[in-house]
Amino acid sequence: MAAHGTPPPMSSHRCGPLTGVANVPGDKSISHRALILGALSVGETTISGLLEGDDVLDTAKAMRALGAEVTRSENGLWSVHGVGVGGFAEPDSVIDCGNSGTGVRLIMGAVATTPIAVTFTGDTSLNGRPMGRVTTPLEAFGARSCGRSEGRLPLTMIGAEDAIPADYTLPVASAQVKSAVLLAGLNAPGQTVVREAVATRDHTERMLKLFGADLTVTDEEDGSRTITLTGQPELVPQHIIVPRDPSSAAFPVCAALITEGSDVLVPGIGLNPTRAGLFETLRDMGADLTYENEREEGGEPVADLRARHSPTMKGIEVPADRAASMIDEYPILSVVASFATGSTTMPGVHELRVKESDRIDAMAKGLRLNGVTVEEGEDWFSVEGLGPSAVPGGATVRTHLDHRIAMSFLILGMASQKPVKIDDSGPIATSFPIFDPLMRELGARFEASR
Ligand code: S3P
Repeated sequence: MAAHGTPPPMSSHRCGPLTGVANVPGDKSISHRALILGALSVGETTISGLLEGDDVLDTAKAMRALGAEVTRSENGLWSVHGVGVGGFAEPDSVIDCGNSGTGVRLIMGAVATTPIAVTFTGDTSLNGRPMGRVTTPLEAFGARSCGRSEGRLPLTMIGAEDAIPADYTLPVASAQVKSAVLLAGLNAPGQTVVREAVATRDHTERMLKLFGADLTVTDEEDGSRTITLTGQPELVPQHIIVPRDPSSAAFPVCAALITEGSDVLVPGIGLNPTRAGLFETLRDMGADLTYENEREEGGEPVADLRARHSPTMKGIEVPADRAASMIDEYPILSVVASFATGSTTMPGVHELRVKESDRIDAMAKGLRLNGVTVEEGEDWFSVEGLGPSAVPGGATVRTHLDHRIAMSFLILGMASQKPVKIDDSGPIATSFPIFDPLMRELGARFEASR
């Protein structure tokens, strides 16, 4: 949001080849978790590569409000002096998580087993999102909460006095819910168990182990997972190196694939298998996308991605069981699909309806306005590809306070015949504050417009 609350519109014009190196910021999911686990350890945790986007900065503020000392040094290194498991203090005022579902849901979990009252709120998008999916399992630990209907924010949570561990089967594929339960389990005596039918991103599990928690993960043959955490560990402070965010890398990568003559390198991208579904899908479509210099950094697999213009991409049916590993990438995939030949069908994506916006609806409306045919059902949508240079463009799209919708349509404009305009570029700062300069440096033609 611009100064004085006026949303800053922006337009994107067809551009020449994209070239160069795109250093995208740190991973949003890992950044939230590093701050929260740092705050729950006794001593100093340092974090390099933290994403300094609004969502994560709101989590940093929340950790301060709960009693941790969180500072940033001039060289960009963050430091968290934690209060230990069960050590959170009751905040003096409301915790505002802005636009961040991950921030609020993880923090709710982290406070649910400490006997303090915490009131949470957010922006219009966050206050419209379902929180019952988190408050229901947290009640099993003994926490109480009172919010609006379906537990919507603003909401007050009163953490359990004498927490009891929970055994919870996730009714939806959600890493946020899983993580909320695990973070609550930290201050409950005995074993907390979370069962998930499909593997969702596992950064919380990896990082809990790194901080010294006793946690085991059992992978079943059918792809389901059981996670068991022993409560009340003493978490040991760490130095966390945050890999660069694959969900942010998706934008320069996809822009290069659809823009004539492009060749872009996106170094140091986290390729945790629970996050890398988009890149697999793009390669299935025939994208010229390679992994170079594969390695491990900070407990996560990492590689440099090289993306080149790929005019012969073909539409496919994306396997439904890949949805969890690319859940935030469907908006940008549907942009790429518009420039492929044939139709791309995306089944099993009901969760897209409850993200920062209803992303199926937002993408379908915006793509149709720009001349692309989209069909949709409750939990699927399909995009009729027009081929490499045949997307008309020319429309203004509503972004509904959703950063990924905003960035996706700016990418559409880079290869469509007429410019594409978005009504509000403000939300991009929640996850990718350097998107505009980074994309311009590669060759994008964005214009702040009215
Ligand atoms: C996230 C999990 C996903 C994802 C979100 C980040 C996380 O949400 O969409 O952007 O960091 O745990 P769900 O867990 O609700 O699917």
